[in-house]
Amino acid sequence: MRKKIVAGNWKMNKTADEAKALLSEVVNMVKDEVTGNVEVVLCPPALYLATARQYVTPGGKVSLGAQNCHEKESGAYTGEISAPMLQSIGVEYVILGHSERRQYFDETSAQLAEKVNVALASGLKPIFCCGESRDLRENGDYVAFVKDQITDSLFHLSAESFANVVIAYEPIWAIGTGLTASSAQAQDMHFELRRHIADQYGDSVAQDTTILYGGSANAQNAAELFAQTDVDGGLIGGASLKSRDFLTVVKAAQ
Ligand code: G3P
Repeated sequence: MRKKIVAGNWKMNKTADEAKALLSEVVNMVKDEVTGNVEVVLCPPALYLATARQYVTPGGKVSLGAQNCHEKESGAYTGEISAPMLQSIGVEYVILGHSERRQYFDETSAQLAEKVNVALASGLKPIFCCGESRDLRENGDYVAFVKDQITDSLFHLSAESFANVVIAYEPIWAIGTGLTASSAQAQDMHFELRRHIADQYGDSVAQDTTILYGGSANAQNAAELFAQTDVDGGLIGGASLKSRDFLTVVKAAQ
């Protein structure tokens, strides 16, 4: 049985006091209102993860995720944060390959494969992002492109290791734009990705893989998106910054 997950990617937002307030609101709302089978992952800026740990009960409904990690376990990489550091403060997930990091920090598939390896070796669960540009969606073989992102950074893994990976399909043209993929578009790509995983690892692993949708998912459209057969929840940006909106999205995944 694959997990339902709603992860909130706060990106580079919130001051310390704002972060504490949002953490407290979301954790309390989840405790009081979420009764179904959905795991909530909060991914605040790394600066706040140690603080966030105080709001989260290990093994509870809310887990912590980082927005990135370095591909080395330690060393002279000024400003960077390692997977072992994240694991040592109770972080369970790490977003890898977000389109904003591929764009602004030139992250390559080979580099991301190394990040996946070090994350898994440190006991973290990667939330691996993939997705196509508007141009490719309109003019090219966007399905092949997204499949290749998975192949190039994940298919070196054993089936056992791959079982710890969460996939997040985030069409770039839908991120932060308010132009959400239709539920049919999301389902179609999720189906293709699940079939691609089945071709590599077999049906059992594919059926157990959690595939999230991200890209302008919000309180208004989450229910329809999450009702799709192969959509197992969401990776939420803007709508994760307001507790009530985020809880509406979480409850839509139950
Ligand atoms: O990682 C999730 C993010 O890329 C989606 O952002 O604001 O379109 O929900 P947003």
